[in-house]
Amino acid sequence: MISNHLLFKIASGEVFGPDQPVALKLLGSERSVQALEGMVLQDAEWALLIGAKPRGPGMERADLLDINGQIFAEQGKALNASASPNVKVIVVGNPCNTNALICMKNAPNIPAKNFHALTRLDENRAKMPGVFYDQVSNMTIWGNHSTTQVPDFLNARIKGLPVKEVIKDLKWLEEEFTEKVQKRGGVLIQKWGRSSAASTAVSIVDAIKSLIIPTPEGDWFSTGVYTNGNPYGIAEDIVFSMPCRSKGDGDYELVKEVIFDDYLLKRIKKSEAELLAEKRCVAHLTGEGIGFCD
Ligand code: LMR
Repeated sequence: MISNHLLFKIASGEVFGPDQPVALKLLGSERSVQALEGMVLQDAEWALLIGAKPRGPGMERADLLDINGQIFAEQGKALNASASPNVKVIVVGNPCNTNALICMKNAPNIPAKNFHALTRLDENRAKMPGVFYDQVSNMTIWGNHSTTQVPDFLNARIKGLPVKEVIKDLKWLEEEFTEKVQKRGGVLIQKWGRSSAASTAVSIVDAIKSLIIPTPEGDWFSTGVYTNGNPYGIAEDIVFSMPCRSKGDGDYELVKEVIFDDYLLKRIKKSEAELLAEKRCVAHLTGEGIGFCD
């Protein structure tokens, strides 16, 4: 469903530009494991890893760890064997942060920096607290694409002003707003009976554009990336959503000028703990021992 929406946008030139030839290599989920071996990813520059078992009503993303992790280990191996070493990999299938980690660990020829977990969907959701989307800037989603994610209203701005100067109701920000963003994916599944497709496709497009178009002065975007060397004190060796800027060359750098308060740090730690637990659970897929789920 996501791909149905996404492919037309890519093929129309909306993403990479109207004059840019695009070669789409498409993999179906059921036959993909065999088909992946070797070939169709030859020299791929962008790999959008969407296919995975989607979350159903009542399931948490972590419930998919076992089921989907294997797919991303295979895809990592296939990318490692065949893709361009500059390939940028955007992992969409859930639980996307840990799937991105699994994929990365199985693709040692590709720089760890090139792997992303799609948290742009959450950023887009967080940019809608009753004002026009384009009036909200500097919005970061920290952490996991799960209910522990942290929509950062401390650093975000509305019409250039700190959110807290515009929205004085701190309780609303800390509770209602935060929860709404965190639980949006689950609520949609409850209402629709399946997970979001069109909004996910839109956010994949946004995520790619953020990496191929220079980030507007003073703004940033969030994406789930490898934590090694991060300046925020977040545990290393996980994939964590953080604020980034790009020169438009497909690469990014982490934003340094962010502030923290106790509330934000506490929430970030909670998401960090969840991702460390997910990592322990998939150790057999990252080549780091026997998986142990808490
Ligand atoms: C979403 O956030 O809508 C998707 O990632 C689906 C899900 O599992 O929540």
